[in-house]
Amino acid sequence: MFGKTTTKAWKQLEKVFKHFDGTEMNDLFAADPKRGERYTEQLENMLVDYSKNRIDDNVMGALFELARERGLKEKINDMFGGKKINTTENRAVLHIALRNRGNSPIYVDGRDVMPQINATLEKIKDFSEAVRLGRFTGYTGKKLTNIVNIGIGGSDLGPFMACEALRHYWAKDIKCWFISNIDGTGCAEVLNKVDPETTLFIVASKTFTTIETLTNARTCRKWLVDALGEHAVAKHFIALSTNKEEVEKFGINPENMFEFWDFVGGRYSMWSAIGMIIAIAVGFKNFERMLEGAYAMDEHFKNSEFKHNIPVILALIGIWYNNFYGIHRYGVIPYDQYLQYLPAYLQQLDMESNGKSVTSDNKYVDYATGPVLFGGAGTNVQHSFFQLLHQGTEIVPIDLIVPAISHNEIGTHQQILLANVLAQGEALMRGKTEATAAAELEAAGKSQAEIARLKKYKSFSGNRPSTTIVLKKVDPYTLGMLVAMYEHKVFTQGVIWNINSFDQFGVELGKKLALNILPELQGTAHNVQHDSSTSNLINHIKKIRK
Ligand code: F6P
Repeated sequence: MFGKTTTKAWKQLEKVFKHFDGTEMNDLFAADPKRGERYTEQLENMLVDYSKNRIDDNVMGALFELARERGLKEKINDMFGGKKINTTENRAVLHIALRNRGNSPIYVDGRDVMPQINATLEKIKDFSEAVRLGRFTGYTGKKLTNIVNIGIGGSDLGPFMACEALRHYWAKDIKCWFISNIDGTGCAEVLNKVDPETTLFIVASKTFTTIETLTNARTCRKWLVDALGEHAVAKHFIALSTNKEEVEKFGINPENMFEFWDFVGGRYSMWSAIGMIIAIAVGFKNFERMLEGAYAMDEHFKNSEFKHNIPVILALIGIWYNNFYGIHRYGVIPYDQYLQYLPAYLQQLDMESNGKSVTSDNKYVDYATGPVLFGGAGTNVQHSFFQLLHQGTEIVPIDLIVPAISHNEIGTHQQILLANVLAQGEALMRGKTEATAAAELEAAGKSQAEIARLKKYKSFSGNRPSTTIVLKKVDPYTLGMLVAMYEHKVFTQGVIWNINSFDQFGVELGKKLALNILPELQGTAHNVQHDSSTSNLINHIKKIRK
């Protein structure tokens, strides 16, 4: 079994950590004037500076050794080669095939998957262009300009994040809407604003059995039929799914179905037909650029040696904090309003993939796995949770992501933003000693008593890690690179932790219990056994809703 006590490289890292713990980044920077450049990697228009992390060559060397000992290279080849690395579900993991722009064959069970992927891409192209050009119209002949994606989890977060990130590229006459949650609010808010004659509903569900999505889709279908009649459904509903049978049962013509396959995980699916709304909003060419960007990152991940491999480096630094410093938190802060939903997207990608406690050898882990991921757009979050990042008792490594050039270069806005992101990384790392705080208070004319009272409050411990990722611009290609980078980071960590990053059994228990509680709330089942808290809550809610 792979555990913290049995792996040679892990043991070595424990020794390295004992020696390294307490090292201050300020000292590392002082000792090496080229540290900033040395711990920076660049791939095309993306630069990743990881120098403001608690690492040195010795640490990185030991981490690379861990990756080697865990057989990372072989595991990467297994994924790209179509091996069934999702062992609990006996599936290949081939989101990389969806953007395999080199078009080299990838075999699963002896069959090349590329022809079906290419055929579906052609279908996405034809349909998205037909909608954009008004060749595929609504039932009454009007152009479809309101595009509503109904989906949840991976069938929502990816397309939603990407559509928002690429808002600058949207066709002027097209509006995108997203309905995900099960409460009636999503449906009510969207249906209030759109016109049935110009609305296309995209029902996005890998399994086509997800209760939230099907309930929302039924409500929308009824709304449409009430307005335009049953015959209108074929012109206003399409499905994105792996489950043809359920799509037909739901009442969507299979001709209006765009398929993908079980080798594409939900949270890895925005490159597939699930990306239909992206293609409609920004055009197929831009959708293809996104695939190309991801492909560039795939090639980098597959072919670069570990010491220059961006996803590998980021993953190993995450392991260093998580498993040696005992820091189980991690923040992603995009400094760009268009990227505001990236943290929510990455939450699913990272936490649904690596929130696991059983190894691939069927044993409970004896080490920490996936961290808690959170985040939000800068500079907004500087005015909320950054207080804790600077002066709290928790250390939270963060990624600061920023485009050098904004799509909206208005006055000095972008320069102010850039100055802020750089300053945050510097402040977190550098900190401010009590002595410096005291000197500043003195210079501001404060009395000695005031200085003594305030200097602790005004000091910063520093030595707080951040990684800065500078993009040229948030364009489709760069977005593809960025998302693929995080996918491969998550994959790498899963390999190191020896867990299967591609199942999600953890979401099932709650779903099942909800099905038991529903009839109680509806008054068709009584006296079901629960703990006293749950029973009490059920009774309380029933009383209120009477
Ligand atoms: O509940 C978790 C989950 O299975 C995710 O993994 C998935 O992205 C989401 O639900 C939606 O599933 P589907 O696309 O099958 O509706």
